[in-house]
Amino acid sequence: MKKIIKNFKSSPRYTIKWDNYFDIYQQLFQKFINKKITFVEVGVGNGGSLFMWRSFFGKKAKIIGIELNPEAKKLEKYGFKIFTGDQSDSKFWEKFYKKIGKIDILLDDGGHRNIQQIASVMESINYIKDNGMIIVEDTHTSYMRKKGFNNPSQYSFINFCNYLIENLHRRNPTLKKDLNNISKKIHSIFFFDSIVCLNFLDKKTNKKTKLLENNKNLNKYFDDYRHKGNFIKTLEKAEKKFGKIKKDSLLYKIIRKLFHRNIFISLSEKNKIKKYINQTKK
Ligand SMILES: C[S@@+](CC[C@H](N)C(=O)[O-])C[C@H]1O[C@@H](n2cnc3c(N)ncnc32)[C@H](O)[C@@H]1O
Repeated sequence: MKKIIKNFKSSPRYTIKWDNYFDIYQQLFQKFINKKITFVEVGVGNGGSLFMWRSFFGKKAKIIGIELNPEAKKLEKYGFKIFTGDQSDSKFWEKFYKKIGKIDILLDDGGHRNIQQIASVMESINYIKDNGMIIVEDTHTSYMRKKGFNNPSQYSFINFCNYLIENLHRRNPTLKKDLNNISKKIHSIFFFDSIVCLNFLDKKTNKKTKLLENNKNLNKYFDDYRHKGNFIKTLEKAEKKFGKIKKDSLLYKIIRKLFHRNIFISLSEKNKIKKYINQTKK
């Protein structure tokens, strides 16, 4: 198997990546090796990573860099296409995609600030090909206060991902009728240590989710206990106090309704969940 860490080490220019990224690249990019793809990296620095991507993906891949520092333009003599611009500027992205067209992979290793990461994603969503991806690196900055990141905050990139996650779930017809472009295009979101990857759908699979039932006629033998456990416990307690409660009585109906809507259990559940949340903060 082609190892990207080797391409990193043999790059003729300075490049800097966290060491856990290489296994992630290996997992995510396997299907693109030796394919005719367009790969765009935001944040070029000294250009070392551009050489790494070119030797990893192979000669058929078009490697493009986006960089705020105009000095990076000099890297074009090595066969890379470099665009000078600010990743948080929507006008820049508009011009960029007008010129380049749709791409396969966008990898954001730019300024890592909230607006920069969010703009890269949102301005690119309509320009990623089927089965393509957007990778945002150094997403730990969503938790960094220093170096101008001013996080954690409600405007952090990772908090923004919650909205993307919600959009993803809207593909399920129980939630919403109209799908926006995000729901229509994103297939899945992978979270790694400091990397978020948005995977784009294939047109063939780009349909609304449907429920499939098998052996529907056998379902009558199955009693769904989702809400029943707590209902039965409370009914037993109530019967100890008040005696047998008939199924057609008002009290029975009230208890049934309350448990169906999870009204009683929500407080104790909230406290349990709070305990679990606290465990994640240690
Ligand atoms: C960590 S370096 C990139 C390193 C390079 N990808 C590598 O692996 O060697 C980040 C780069 O992003 C650039 N940058 C910072 N803010 C930017 C912005 N708003 N738009 C485009 N590039 C930006 C910086 O000038 C810097 O060169």
